[in-house]
Amino acid sequence: YVIGVDLGTSAVKTVLVDPQGKVAFEHSESYPLSRPQPNWSEQNPEDWVQGTLVSLHRLIEVSGVDPSQVDGISFSGQMHGLVLVDREGKVLRPAILWNDTRTTAQCRKIEKTLGAKLIEIARNRALEGFTLPKILWVQENEPEVLAQAELFLLPKDYVRYRLTGDYAMDYSDAAGTLLLDVASKTWSAEIAEAFGLPVSLCPKLVESFDLTGTLLPEIAEASGLLPSTKVFAGGADNACGALGAGILGEGRTMCSIGTSGVILSYESNKDLNLEGKVHFFNHGEKDAYYIMGVTLAAGYSLTWFKETFAGDKSFDELLQGVDSIPAGSGGLLFTPYIVGERTPHPDPNIRGSFIGMDSGHTLAHFTRSVLEGITFSLRESIDIVRDSGKEITEVVAIGGGAKNEAWLQMQADIFNASIIKLESEQGPAMGAAMLAAYGAGWFESLGECAEAFIRPAEVYKPNAQQAATYDGLFGLYQEVYGQTRSLND
Ligand code: XUL
Repeated sequence: YVIGVDLGTSAVKTVLVDPQGKVAFEHSESYPLSRPQPNWSEQNPEDWVQGTLVSLHRLIEVSGVDPSQVDGISFSGQMHGLVLVDREGKVLRPAILWNDTRTTAQCRKIEKTLGAKLIEIARNRALEGFTLPKILWVQENEPEVLAQAELFLLPKDYVRYRLTGDYAMDYSDAAGTLLLDVASKTWSAEIAEAFGLPVSLCPKLVESFDLTGTLLPEIAEASGLLPSTKVFAGGADNACGALGAGILGEGRTMCSIGTSGVILSYESNKDLNLEGKVHFFNHGEKDAYYIMGVTLAAGYSLTWFKETFAGDKSFDELLQGVDSIPAGSGGLLFTPYIVGERTPHPDPNIRGSFIGMDSGHTLAHFTRSVLEGITFSLRESIDIVRDSGKEITEVVAIGGGAKNEAWLQMQADIFNASIIKLESEQGPAMGAAMLAAYGAGWFESLGECAEAFIRPAEVYKPNAQQAATYDGLFGLYQEVYGQTRSLND
């Protein structure tokens, strides 16, 4: 067996995976998120560690598996979160998470100071969620904290450190800090020094499948695993989600719809420059990359809509009526910009909208238009990827958006591509398990591991007529932001 640990924002999930890629057992432990001030989002790293230990313990206890049969553990982690540790490895302040947006001023400073160098080296724009702006916020607002910092870590790297006692960060997660020279896979002294940060603040870099250590004796005891259990570095949740969906090879693209939505496409050319229109990150596979567009409120738009307008209805009840409404929702159009946006409008103050209302519209029309608006937003990312010269004829769908047939068909029609649903889908936790399986020597390559572990179940093909209807509406959708921008002033 191998174990994948997915350190998420609301919970940690652990999966025990057998050599056929089947999940023998899984367990989740949730932890709190604190919002002490508007725009702030923090967690206590100790909660991650304790949650992980409890979850591992349950996994071993409930499965009854002999711990000597566990060949390795690896991780998937929420990206970008800042953990500062002192010389003794003590956490200096609560972790500042990826969805904390207090750093607009620091982002402007980064852009102004680095100019074109930012995209040239870090390959990404300065967004509030990324790590460097968070470090600069601490530098400006809590200088005494930064002065004590020996290292900065990302969430899963802190948990791995507590499990093994070794510091390391893998390239796929380091790419989300804005301190990595993404193409040369080294920390950028130029960027660090431009902000008066010592490069020694950055931990040792490793590949996602590299062995970083074994379990500390007290951790082995608390988790029920053996101290000799091998621990592999792991990767960013998006990289691991991509591994778990088999996005390994040119032309492979996925659409993940969870709270946020992601279009992610494999990239082998380290020099591809899309001027920061989409994120450009290192993959979990050696010397591979991916490009990624993000809709911040994807599933979240639907949750917000349900909670605000649908009374006591469950998601299933709400979605039931969607199939009976024709493509285009009778002229009702939704834009999902309700918590700021990333792609293609990196604007924290952007506003969402419903337009085209008619007294004949019902709750089902509104529900369908919410699904369509979310999917149009993801189509904007698909188009950026297509404009870069990639052909997208197939998209692997994962997450909540892959659980509803009407939504899967809608993705096929709006993206004008075949949508592939997987037989069983475990998201980033499976990618983490794959890193452990490959690291432990079960397979010759991650691609071979994906072939053994991941099986397509169904294909949804675009319907020409509906695709044409959506193409027309998409033009209108794209105009909404420009026309309503002054609403946020
Ligand atoms: C990626 C991002 C999110 C987090 C969520 O840029 O901010 O996907 O990784 O965990």
